[in-house]
Amino acid sequence: MSQVAEEPNEYVQFWNDILADKFERFRHILMQGLSYHSDTPLRTLQVRPGSNILDVGCGWGDTALQLARMTGPEGRVLGLDCCDAFLAKGREDAAREGLNNTEFVAADVERYPFRPEYDLALSRFGMMFFQNPVIAMRNIRRALKPGGRLVFIVWRRLEDNPWLGVPKDIVLRHLPPPGEDALTCGPGPFSMASTDLVSAQLKAAGFDPQVTFTRNDGPVMVGRTTEEAMQFQLALGPAGEVFREAGPEAEEKREAIEADLREALATYQTSNGEVVMQSSSWTVTACNGTSPA
Ligand SMILES: C[S@@+](CC[C@H](N)C(=O)[O-])C[C@H]1O[C@@H](n2cnc3c(N)ncnc32)[C@H](O)[C@@H]1O
Repeated sequence: MSQVAEEPNEYVQFWNDILADKFERFRHILMQGLSYHSDTPLRTLQVRPGSNILDVGCGWGDTALQLARMTGPEGRVLGLDCCDAFLAKGREDAAREGLNNTEFVAADVERYPFRPEYDLALSRFGMMFFQNPVIAMRNIRRALKPGGRLVFIVWRRLEDNPWLGVPKDIVLRHLPPPGEDALTCGPGPFSMASTDLVSAQLKAAGFDPQVTFTRNDGPVMVGRTTEEAMQFQLALGPAGEVFREAGPEAEEKREAIEADLREALATYQTSNGEVVMQSSSWTVTACNGTSPA
């Protein structure tokens, strides 16, 4: 019975089996190209030196390392991700920089046996992919000290994110939408776009009902060239999902799809050749009980 309980869920499996390699291929885009959405909140995030911090769904660990610098040698950061392949980069970067206050652990956030030891939990674009967000939030709350904060960054709606919507529309001109039984990495990038839904989820997980949503609109770099942007969009995100799910039909139509994507993405090319598009996220802040004065 305990063996069954340890089986990774289908989404965790998908991150490990399908997405890890694709993410690795486009790491510079996913890590640096989208960093606008964490740079702004992290600039204003108040971190007391010596704080214990949890980075949930930390991926390659760049935000965990930023937090490790902020909390300093008296503090501690745990970067947690269900995909061990990502964590090697975080461990390597921490060792190179001599950040001894950082640890990376491969685990499912819904199941990890947390103790109430963290002052702050942060997640950049992790929360939207958990199988059961309320169970994950409840478990993260268990990790927080009374008064501890959960701060997470999630995408707003597809309509507010042309960097994902424009390519998806183009691919849908050629291919059918993914079916109900499409393999996916979780509820999906827009699953936390609704402030009402997220407030209700946080409340159900036991957080203080006073939740703050800060909107952050800004540019993302989706490719150093039009060609790279086109390849990125066909591999990942909503356009990539349509393409992947269409299987052989997508391969038959590849040439025409690629040409249309290239043409559309070229209109977002900046003077240095990079493709830069608009995007929009929420930074959500919730507290485990009322925050200490
Ligand atoms: C979109 S990526 C964001 C990664 C990183 N925070 C960043 O901003 O670059 C989502 C991350 O959540 C992780 N993840 C998904 N489900 C998880 C789970 N149940 N427990 C822990 N991590 C999970 C994935 O492996 C992936 O690294």
